[in-house]
Amino acid sequence: MKKASTALRADDARELDWWKNAVIYEVYPRSFQDTNGDGIGDLNGITKRLDYLKELGVDAIWLTPVYRSPHVDFGYDISDYMSIDPQYGTLEDFDRLVAEATERHIRVVLDMVMNHTSDQHQWFIQSRSSRENPYRDWYMWRDGRAGNASARRQPPNNWQSLFGHSAWQWHQPTRQYYYHKFYVEQPDLNWHNPAVHEAFRQVMAFWLKRGVGGFRFDAITTLFEDPGLADEGVLVDKDGKPMINAFGDPQLDGSKTDNQPGVHEVIQEMRAEADKFISSKFPGTRVLIGETYLHNIGDLKKMYGTPEKPEFHLPMNTQVGMINRLDVTEFRQKLIDAETHLGDHIPLLLFDNHDKPRIDARYGDGVHDIDIQRVIATILLASRGAALIYYGDEIGMKTTPPSRRDEVKDPMGIAGWPEEKGRDGERTPMQWNATRNAGFTSGTPWLPVPPSAKTINVRTEKSDPNSLLAWYKTLIRLKKTVPAFANGANIMLDTENTQVLSWMRQAAGAPQVVVCVNFTACKVVADLTLGETGMRPRKLKTLLKSPDGADSLVTSRIVLGPYGAYIGEVV
Ligand code: NOJ
Ligand code: CA
Repeated sequence: MKKASTALRADDARELDWWKNAVIYEVYPRSFQDTNGDGIGDLNGITKRLDYLKELGVDAIWLTPVYRSPHVDFGYDISDYMSIDPQYGTLEDFDRLVAEATERHIRVVLDMVMNHTSDQHQWFIQSRSSRENPYRDWYMWRDGRAGNASARRQPPNNWQSLFGHSAWQWHQPTRQYYYHKFYVEQPDLNWHNPAVHEAFRQVMAFWLKRGVGGFRFDAITTLFEDPGLADEGVLVDKDGKPMINAFGDPQLDGSKTDNQPGVHEVIQEMRAEADKFISSKFPGTRVLIGETYLHNIGDLKKMYGTPEKPEFHLPMNTQVGMINRLDVTEFRQKLIDAETHLGDHIPLLLFDNHDKPRIDARYGDGVHDIDIQRVIATILLASRGAALIYYGDEIGMKTTPPSRRDEVKDPMGIAGWPEEKGRDGERTPMQWNATRNAGFTSGTPWLPVPPSAKTINVRTEKSDPNSLLAWYKTLIRLKKTVPAFANGANIMLDTENTQVLSWMRQAAGAPQVVVCVNFTACKVVADLTLGETGMRPRKLKTLLKSPDGADSLVTSRIVLGPYGAYIGEVV
């Protein structure tokens, strides 16, 4: 048999750069499409919906974990990294999904959970079996706080789980505590142990050989903890009193368990591993995406690494998308940060995911939600870089949290009720049509289908040229076809305006394009010739405008309705 050449052809630059202007669509497999009637989405369901995703125009889908799991954290507690959970299908189903997606030029990106495993993983079962077991040091086992005899049952320090209460779990048979940043059933791995590194290189290779387009690295900033086990600081309110979180615990500052030294070296190692798998069989960059909740742009920049030691291609920029209120000045500043402080690096913008209430709950006003979602979609898809869409946002799915504690599926919502209702509200089934279960399942859906599915669904919106779905599709088409949108710079315009956010996309040799979004419920007029970066009065050709919007003709007078959006080419 002839050996496949691993050399890339000269014209494969497009394949290498695919991620730079990519639209990546997050699928929560459990909630996307069920095909066997058990009320839980599956891989065959995703395959079935690939034509929809192709029509929408996405370049890649990121699947939250589909590996074997007891599902305490709905897949983020993995018990075997080299298999598919039977609820989702088989390895054959997965290979078929990759093949069918590849045929449609859609890449499949997997979740890579390296901070912790399930407590049902063989590594942990071995590890907890005795202090002498070779796997003991794969996890974070520690003695209790020293002192008098009774103090042996005190956890080593005050660190807390993000899902409530102490992050240390006592294990009576071996009389030590283990550390878990997330649920008790998600013990943290010990990244000081080289065997853990090797195990994950093998896991990555297993999936890369099957043709995956890359990975999204879960909880990456929590891989390491302070080796001295120092207590974290307690946050205080303006009266100096400790702040209390939804679980009734003091709010800690995260200073000893997040973003600690060691993380960058691991990302460099995993990037080098992924880079080895660029081949002619599966051409193109295997993209590494980071779950990087970092509050300053300097820390985010470090996540890209250096030319000699590259790290993530696309660490998530949560600084823009999680502003959580329509404040023009703040948006402008955060977008300037992403454009200038990140240099040539490619920003990855996103507005929500399976851990955050959807866009309606964080930006909507209950009256103009669809218009506001158009505004958000415009910022997401008409800014420079890659964009992450959470399934259902393209049709305007609404956050629908449980109304009673006994309906909650996410354990975090049970522990934090009623202040913290958990994440069920943003994980409800995809709304395909107006039938009883919205076309998601023929059985009983694992989470109820929201009543809003009667009007907010793919079938209805497909036939309405003014729908949010139509808006997303057009934006994605523009992102892919307008030359200035390819990787043109973002230059903020009319920068004193506190009602309208305006920017220009500019690339050498391409017509400039201006984008304006109104952050208010009133009609407003923007003048892009104002201010330091003001442009000359020029004529415009409309590329896209809100359904009731005006055709603005000149850069000095852009008329926008309530939460209106406008995109025009400078002619
Ligand atoms: C972040 C994931 O997005 C979230 O869903 C999960 O619970 C935690 N990491 C733990 O893996
Ligand atoms: Ca199913």
